[in-house]
Amino acid sequence: MKIARLTLSDRASAGIYKDLSGPEIERIILEADFCVSEWVRLIMPDNRSDIEDLLCKLCDEDACDLILTTGGTGPSRRDNTPEATRTVLERELPGFGEIMRVKTFDKVPTAILSRSTAGTRGKSLIINLPGNPKAIGECLPMLLPAVREAIKHLR
Ligand code: MTE
Repeated sequence: MKIARLTLSDRASAGIYKDLSGPEIERIILEADFCVSEWVRLIMPDNRSDIEDLLCKLCDEDACDLILTTGGTGPSRRDNTPEATRTVLERELPGFGEIMRVKTFDKVPTAILSRSTAGTRGKSLIINLPGNPKAIGECLPMLLPAVREAIKHLR
């Protein structure tokens, strides 16, 4: 399986703080015994059209099976990830975002600030995760059974 992890953050891409979220995604995926043939590791600023172009390339040219984005899902004016994702998706899978918000809300009331979504483009599955590494630990593990199943359906 070829997996891209894409950190979307103006500040992390400028080196103002260290990207801890991308490595956290990788740690969780490896701990869950996913068979990963290749990792694509990227950090970029929150520019919507650049995100759209990159997502298209990761799906259409690089043939990634799974693209996990982190960051840019909140309410601030520079948070563009869900809009960019929706633009490139062929089929939206809104349940991924919904379940992250619902399942973590009781413990983390700010979970509803994330507008994350997911879906497919060609044979690729794209999922938005919130930017906080702690949030990735709270959200990503519960998605993995559905991720495995979705990838089987896309092959
Ligand atoms: N979800 C969980 N489970 N845990 C969290 O700590 N942080 C929230 C939310 N979702 C959080 C969470 C906060 S504070 C914000 S602003 C949004 O995710 C969006 O974060 P992002 O813009 O970094 O993607």
